[in-house]
Amino acid sequence: MLSHRCFRMDTLCTLREICVTRSRQNKLKHHRLSFPAKFISFEGIDGCGKSTLMDQLADWLTRAGIPFVRTREPGGTGIGEKIREILLDPASSEMSSRAEVLLYSASRAQLTDQVIVAAMKKGSWVLTDRFVDATFAYQGFGRGFDLERLRIIQEWTTKDLWPDKTILLDCDIDTAMSRLGARDGADRDRIEQEDLIFHQKVRKGYLELAGKEPERFLVLDASKPLEEVIEEFYERFWLVEVAR
Ligand code: TMP
Repeated sequence: MLSHRCFRMDTLCTLREICVTRSRQNKLKHHRLSFPAKFISFEGIDGCGKSTLMDQLADWLTRAGIPFVRTREPGGTGIGEKIREILLDPASSEMSSRAEVLLYSASRAQLTDQVIVAAMKKGSWVLTDRFVDATFAYQGFGRGFDLERLRIIQEWTTKDLWPDKTILLDCDIDTAMSRLGARDGADRDRIEQEDLIFHQKVRKGYLELAGKEPERFLVLDASKPLEEVIEEFYERFWLVEVAR
């Protein structure tokens, strides 16, 4: 079995010193960047604002000339996007929780083999909108699926590949729901249409996962205004993990 650590060793890319311009607050600052490629996942309940933070990181990486691949789950491949349609279609209301776990996992297996491992072998960073933790949070804590069984399925699904860093955007349910609120109930996907109690369980689950792996998880308070979330991300991730 190929382990995560093997991939890290394989994909160490020695990057030249690069100057990155920090335009925030109209100040120009230069940092030396020297680091291995990283596999970063973004997680959080629906409406937490993951995409905006991913846009920000993608922008920093682009400006620093660092190669990266951005993807999402479920989806990210031709096969995965077809699976996504089935999973999120409100008409799939009869889906059993086992079928749900297996479909999310099928999409993830395809993404891992076709996109993530291929990118890491080339020394690219990988940014993914959700990965294994989503299955623990949604199907484990949300649906009540056995966590140990999920772990076994996930280890097989990803060949035990885990993100180097997981950015958890933690947000209270009211804020998340009001962000989703622009879309009324009928426009929400099958998972977004779940009740508040389900989303509360998912949030609690994410926090529990983060508590168990404080090294891997970076928890950000996504209830704050976006500017502040980006600021905190900059201070706690970019400066610490990248531009050191
Ligand atoms: P999103 O791409 O808008 O985040 O939508 C994906 C939805 O699927 C979101 O509600 C979370 C849910 N989901 C799971 O329930 N389990 C999983 O393993 C993943 C990846 C997502």
